[in-house]
Amino acid sequence: MTKICVFGGSGQLGRSLVRDLAVLGDVTAPTRQQLDLTNIAQLQQWLQQHEFDLLVNAAAMTQVDVAQTAVELTLQLNHQLPAILAAHAKAKNIWLVHFSTDYVFDGSGDMPWRETDDCQPLQQYGISKRAGELAIQTSGCLHLLIRTSWLYDSDGQNFLLTMLQLAQANQASLAIERQSQQPATAMIKVVADQIGAPTFAPVLSAQVTQILSQLLVMPLLAASKLSGIYHLCAAGHCSWFQFTEAIFQKAFDKGILLNQPALRAVSSLEFARPAPRPKNSRLDTRKVQTTFALELTHWQQQLDQCLELLKFSAKTGK
Ligand SMILES: NC(=O)c1ccc[n+]([C@@H]2O[C@H](COP(=O)([O-])OP(=O)(O)OC[C@H]3O[C@@H](n4cnc5c(N)ncnc54)[C@H](OP(=O)(O)O)[C@@H]3O)[C@@H](O)[C@H]2O)c1
Repeated sequence: MTKICVFGGSGQLGRSLVRDLAVLGDVTAPTRQQLDLTNIAQLQQWLQQHEFDLLVNAAAMTQVDVAQTAVELTLQLNHQLPAILAAHAKAKNIWLVHFSTDYVFDGSGDMPWRETDDCQPLQQYGISKRAGELAIQTSGCLHLLIRTSWLYDSDGQNFLLTMLQLAQANQASLAIERQSQQPATAMIKVVADQIGAPTFAPVLSAQVTQILSQLLVMPLLAASKLSGIYHLCAAGHCSWFQFTEAIFQKAFDKGILLNQPALRAVSSLEFARPAPRPKNSRLDTRKVQTTFALELTHWQQQLDQCLELLKFSAKTGK
């Protein structure tokens, strides 16, 4: 049986991967308590003590603003960790699956980025993720390096859940304002000049599983020719503002929200954050679609799936 190790199995993508990859083999997912991935000696020991046929790295430092100042920790997780995993995968001649980001690009222009385009990250997070990519590529290991964008899940901390929480808080404040006969003023501001594809982590996980189910049964020589970088995210694109509009509209239609809060579109300049974000985060996904015969679903459809899941959890408490 294929022995698979998933690092970062408690993260939004990792949780789905641990579940989905079980159809391909025996999955081990060490928790942070069992294995601190910033501890190189502990990691090396772990890799020596266990035999795996496939390494999947969903662990990372993903807090983009925090990464601006926590530079060392960010490099440990986003550069050093994939470098060590890649060296191990090369030595053992096994596959490494790793995830990277649209934030390796500077966001210029209005065309979707291709895998071969120049990377000019704007912030520490992107710099560290790019360094991780280069370490994997130069190691010469068999790798699937998957760049995705705007990940979210129905659990944990992410943009979608933050927006729903804001909307619920907004409903409560509107109710208080109405009781006190004050005019309703609460308004949620969202950036409208950054464009990308919001991607539902369970969909990405299922697609990665589908790709691996093809790769792992191929003769090694044929499979090794497919080693490389792939862009994989939802189809279509929108701004954070349009994404929020769709979240509120759909959540309202599904009865998750009682009303739709007022929204105001703002520019990146008006909504300054410690780390600059790329304006054009669109990824060109043709390579992954043609190589693995993958059909990507639209971000609106993925959003529906996520909200249905949230509605189900709210009803059943599961
Ligand atoms: N989030 C996005 O919008 C986005 C967009 C594009 C690409 N990506 C990439 O996609 C991948 C998955 O992202 P995600 O959003 O699923 O990440 P996430 O939810 O932030 O999960 C990160 C994982 O890394 C683990 N981790 C962090 N530091 C650790 C340490 N010192 N020792 C052990 N484990 C540690 C976390 O464990 P704990 O649960 O113990 O903290 C968690 O399981 C990453 O490579 C990310 O760069 C993400």
